[in-house]
Amino acid sequence: MCGIVGYIGYRKAQEVLLQGLHRLEYRGYDSAGIAVVKEDGTLNIYKAKGKVSNLETIMADKEVEGSIGIGHTRWATHGEPNDKNAHPHSSQSQSLAMVHNGTIENYHILKKALIKHGYTFSTETDTEVLVQLIEYIKATNKCNLFDAVREALLQVVGAYAIAVIEKGNPDTIIVARKSSPLVIGIGENETFIASDASPIVGFTDKVVYLKENEMAVISRNRPLQISSIADNRPSKLDIQRLRVSVEQLEKGGYDTFMLKEIFEQPETLKDCIRGRIVEEGKRVILSGVIENRERFIHANRIVIVACGTSWHAALIGKRVIQEMCQLPVEVEYASEFRYGNPFITDQDIVIAISQSGETADTLAAIQLAKNKGAFVYGICNVVGASIPRNTDSGTYIHVGPEIGVASTKAFTGQVTVLTLLALCMGQIRQTVQPEKVEEIAQALLKMPDTIRETLKLNDDIRRLAKTFTYAHNFLYLGRGYNYPTALEGALKLKEISYIHAEGYPAAEMKHGPIALIDAEMPSVIIAPSDSLYDKIVGNVQQIKSRGGSVVAIVNRGNTAMAQLADYCLKIPEVPECLTPIVIAIPLQLLAYYIAIYKGRDVDRPRNLAKSVTVE
Ligand code: G6P
Repeated sequence: MCGIVGYIGYRKAQEVLLQGLHRLEYRGYDSAGIAVVKEDGTLNIYKAKGKVSNLETIMADKEVEGSIGIGHTRWATHGEPNDKNAHPHSSQSQSLAMVHNGTIENYHILKKALIKHGYTFSTETDTEVLVQLIEYIKATNKCNLFDAVREALLQVVGAYAIAVIEKGNPDTIIVARKSSPLVIGIGENETFIASDASPIVGFTDKVVYLKENEMAVISRNRPLQISSIADNRPSKLDIQRLRVSVEQLEKGGYDTFMLKEIFEQPETLKDCIRGRIVEEGKRVILSGVIENRERFIHANRIVIVACGTSWHAALIGKRVIQEMCQLPVEVEYASEFRYGNPFITDQDIVIAISQSGETADTLAAIQLAKNKGAFVYGICNVVGASIPRNTDSGTYIHVGPEIGVASTKAFTGQVTVLTLLALCMGQIRQTVQPEKVEEIAQALLKMPDTIRETLKLNDDIRRLAKTFTYAHNFLYLGRGYNYPTALEGALKLKEISYIHAEGYPAAEMKHGPIALIDAEMPSVIIAPSDSLYDKIVGNVQQIKSRGGSVVAIVNRGNTAMAQLADYCLKIPEVPECLTPIVIAIPLQLLAYYIAIYKGRDVDRPRNLAKSVTVE
């Protein structure tokens, strides 16, 4: 949700900033801009509505000198997406430029006060208010930029990651964070800042994650200084190593990041499982569970909080944990949990699932759960993100950077980790039979090959997708473990093709959605040969008898469904609890190709952002 980047060093800032903005574009692409201070102190700002490529076009014939600058790619909150509201924003005298990710909640009050002091505003953004406030404080207190930023932040209510530079000062960037992420990359005679580490990859592997309520002076000539915003007390530098390569951030020959990420799943699942299934498939170990053994043995209940696709993974997690651990599990949208006055005790384990590890609602839910004494366990992808740093323990899914806005490999990684968690917990609680653990663990070890086999459906699905570009509505039906898979399939289609799609528990179809069925409304029916297969066949008959067309996802050995459904996609057989991982593949591909045939930008669908750091 908005990406910010900054550079100070010996390279041409313009190039570093634009490359960084490309890598951060998944966070928002309503507008983009950069500000650079030249050696002679001149401050230049360039901005453009739309994607980073639009900014590049307007800058194509401009040689911007200067080795210090800041940049921003926007997901609009205050003010419509246009050139004017794009960041960086400057102060009235044009002496400061600032980029901001987050929301200043009390900006109306601050703006009124500034107007009284003679300030005028040219945008509708909350960011312009903050940069004007900094200028006002700097002028009235006759202080330096650092002190002015700090003083301003003490007056601000809200969330922010900011970077500020000033005219006449080609040596300093001031940054600060509260509830929005900011990473500092430390190179040789150069320093980078960014919302996440992706713009820094390839330049340096030494990073410092700015902590909550900290600010820093990034200076050309002096070592990095970090301090707390509240009392200016210096903080200890905690330098960490980045383990992401440039190749992981590129498309690797695929047309889109989404397709690359779909096809990467055999490898990403291998990475996700690695070292976690031992003793030839007889035992599952997740260090975050083993180290907190007593907590997991004595837990009364599990509550899982998440948003979007991660919430769908949570619903699958609920079933598998209940099955293996004989423990009640509840799943809540993090955004509902945080305001729902939830009943949580210190005997509960709250699991927070998040690909990015930065989702604002999930972070707030974690804080609430902690305040109520729960043990909080995180399941995240991005190493070092805010959620893993704010949980008591947890597990990374290790699927590598996910750049396409629609989540694919993170979903299968999350379901895999939740299954491992259920097995590991079931073992230590002695609620699962060793044979069951072994059966599922063995199937998980084979999962990379199973997914490789499933991906062979690619060409069939591409052909099939072409027949569905006419549809305005889609229904996805599944039961048991695959009701959440149906929700996820529908979400994928909505997100990237803009076709309305609804996921439903198959048996509930007769209580409403069946009224919508006609020749114009296709249904995707998830029907692996599991305990509920026979029931789902009845639903297919009901749809066919009302003229609807059906795409059925069935197991390879199934010959009967071909008599009923219009199209059958056949997948390899796996234990019931693992079917969502396999079925996710054809659902991702179907959504992908329908969106491609409709000419959509699948990696950057309209109005969406990958990392939702605002409420
Ligand atoms: C956004 C993304 C989704 C994601 C959701 C939760 O809506 O577009 O793909 O599932 O946020 O994100 P998280 O990073 O917490 O999993």
